[in-house]
Amino acid sequence: MGAPGLLEESRVKASPPVGSGGTVAVPRPPSKPWDLPGGTGQGTLKLEVSHFDLWYGEKQALFDINLRAHERTVTALIGPSGCGKSTLLRSLNRMNDLVDGVSTAGSVALDGQEIYTPDLEVELLRRLVGMVFQKPNPFPKSIYDNVAYGLRIQGERRPVVLDEAVERSLRASALWTEVKDRLDQSALGLSGGQQQRLCIARALATGPEVLLMDEPCSALDPLSTQKVEDLIHELRSTCTIVIVTHNMQQAARVSDRTAVFLMGVLVEEGPTEKIFTSPDRKETEDYVTGRFG
Ligand SMILES: Nc1ncnc2c1ncn2[C@@H]1O[C@H](COP(=O)(O)OP(=O)(O)OP(=O)(O)O)[C@@H](O)[C@H]1O
Ligand SMILES: [Mg+2]
Repeated sequence: MGAPGLLEESRVKASPPVGSGGTVAVPRPPSKPWDLPGGTGQGTLKLEVSHFDLWYGEKQALFDINLRAHERTVTALIGPSGCGKSTLLRSLNRMNDLVDGVSTAGSVALDGQEIYTPDLEVELLRRLVGMVFQKPNPFPKSIYDNVAYGLRIQGERRPVVLDEAVERSLRASALWTEVKDRLDQSALGLSGGQQQRLCIARALATGPEVLLMDEPCSALDPLSTQKVEDLIHELRSTCTIVIVTHNMQQAARVSDRTAVFLMGVLVEEGPTEKIFTSPDRKETEDYVTGRFG
């Protein structure tokens, strides 16, 4: 089901040339293997948020959000604490359904299908749109059982299928070599960085097409952070990624496009390099240069 009426507002403009204004000193490596032509948001549209509002009870937290994410891109959501980044992220797989008193208006479409419809199978949605949280949250189960969890919930019992999925997911999250000899041990015995990669493996096991990451590195040391960032670059070839981060350098390193939020409003969205070097909006410049927030 498409929603052509809602697709008219075009937030994704053709990328203008990046100016030499150079307002912000955020380092971005000159060229990377994932800087492929067409890799900056011009592919197939995956997620489209249109005129989306959200209220917690009486209090409105998101105002008329319009945002698009294309296949095989990484979109960073940035902005000061309390501006609605996590709220928007959770809206993309209807995690906010779990919060009492939440109401929404407007549209979120995945592959052109509206997700805010009463008959939507939310479990299926969350299988397609996986989520990784700020704090690693492994279950108090073995490493194997953590990764196999989602598939078992779906009714998968065949050991050969589960074994294959566990190994594939742990390899994809760059954890396999560290844990392959201790799969039956508790996940709680892993380091924080390993736990976060385990949670990514758990999210990957059910084959998501979109991965939502809410400050996935904020509890990690620099080495673990680098591993997760490397992982994001690799996952980008199969997934659409939306990541919340407070770390400007991280947004600059990992994302193709960046959306800047202030007080529940998306003030500017565009190619990451442009957002950090020659933004259109004064509020964006003030935020990315650390003048407020
Ligand atoms: N469960 C909730 N019930 C009521 N209000 C909430 C709830 N969760 C968030 N809010 C409010 O919604 C607004 C946006 O919160 P949100 O957590 O999305 O911000 P954020 O940008 O992710 O902030 P941070 O960077 O601190 O994580 C805030 O005013 C917050 O107090
Ligand atoms: Mg948050």
